[in-house]
Amino acid sequence: MNEFASKLLRWFAAHGRHELPWQTPPGTPRNAYHVWLSEVMLQQTQVATVVPYFLRFIERFPTLQSLSAASEDEVLSAWSGLGYYSRGRNLLRAAKHLAEDFPQSAQALQTLPGIGRSTANAIAAQAFGQRIAILDGNVKRVLARQIALSSWPGSPSAQTLLWAHAENLLPDAPSAQTMADYSQAIMDLGALLCTRKPQCPRCPVSASCVSFQQGLQTQIPAPKPKRERPLKNVFWLVIENEQGEFLLERRGPSGIWGGLLSFLELDSLNGTPYDERIVLEETPHLTPIRHEFSHFSLLATPVRARLAAGLHEERWIWSQAGEGSYPAPVKKLLHEVSRT
Ligand code: ADE
Repeated sequence: MNEFASKLLRWFAAHGRHELPWQTPPGTPRNAYHVWLSEVMLQQTQVATVVPYFLRFIERFPTLQSLSAASEDEVLSAWSGLGYYSRGRNLLRAAKHLAEDFPQSAQALQTLPGIGRSTANAIAAQAFGQRIAILDGNVKRVLARQIALSSWPGSPSAQTLLWAHAENLLPDAPSAQTMADYSQAIMDLGALLCTRKPQCPRCPVSASCVSFQQGLQTQIPAPKPKRERPLKNVFWLVIENEQGEFLLERRGPSGIWGGLLSFLELDSLNGTPYDERIVLEETPHLTPIRHEFSHFSLLATPVRARLAAGLHEERWIWSQAGEGSYPAPVKKLLHEVSRT
C-alpha cells in the first residue's frame, strides 16, 4: 500500500473516530441509509452537533421506507435546529424517489438531489467500500497543504488538481473495510489535526507535506481572492470662503451617496465644467482619500480652488465641519481642511 495511505490508516486506528453511530463493527456491513443520512447532516455541520440529531432522526424514521412515507413537515421538524433545511427537503425528495432501492455506486448516488460528487463518493466508500476519492472541506485543506497549493483551493483549476491528487493517494486494492476507514481517516485528519491551526508535530503524514517541510502550513490553504474592484479616480474641489466655510453640493437622488453633501467632484483637472469661474490653486494637493464601495474603490484627490465672485448654484451649500449629513470620507476631509 502507498505510504500516505498506510500511515494515515495507522494513525486512524489509534486516533480516528470509531464510535460514530453510523459506523458498525469492523467487517460488518453498514446501513447505507444511515451513512447517507449522516453524510448529508455532516455537509455543513460538525460531527458533535450531528450525532444527537442523527440518533433522533433514525429513531423517528428508522428505515428509508419510513422516511419515504413522511411528510415534509415531519422531516423538517426532525431537522429543526440543524439549519440548511434544503438538506432535509432534498433528503425526503430522494427518499420518495428511491422508496425501496438504495443506489449502490457513487455515480448513481450523485443523481440524487442534494448529493454532490464528494458526498456521493463518501457514501459509496463508507457504505459499500467503493475505492473512490472524496474532497470535502477538510480533505481539501489536507491535500492543499500536502502539495503546498499556492492558489485558493476553491477555483476550478485547483479543484481539478486536488481531485487528481486525492485519487492518486487512494490505497491500492483496499478491502471494503479499509476503504471505509481510509475515507473516514482523511476526513478525521482534516477535522482533528490539519485544522486552521494545524498540529503538525502529531501528524502522521507530515513527512510528505510540502507545506510543513517549507513552514508554510499556516499560509495554506490560500484565502479566496477578493474581487478586484475597479478604481475610480476623482478630484474634490476644496473651496473655502472668508467665513471659513466650505463649498459642498447636494448629490443627485440616485447613485452613491444620493442626497448627501459632498465636495464638488471632477473626473479630470483638464477643464472644469465651470470653465474659468473656478480657479484651481497651485498649492500642493492634499492627501488623497480612498474609500471602498462594494463594486469599486474611490480615490478622491482633494484640490484647493477659488470661486469667481458671484458664482452660485442652487445645489451648492456653504458648510462648516460638523453640520449637515455627509459621507464619512467627506466628513473626514472637512475636519482635516478646517484645521489647516
Ligand atoms: N464531514 C463529512 N463527512 C464526515 C465524516 N464522515 N466524518 C467527519 N466529518 C465529516
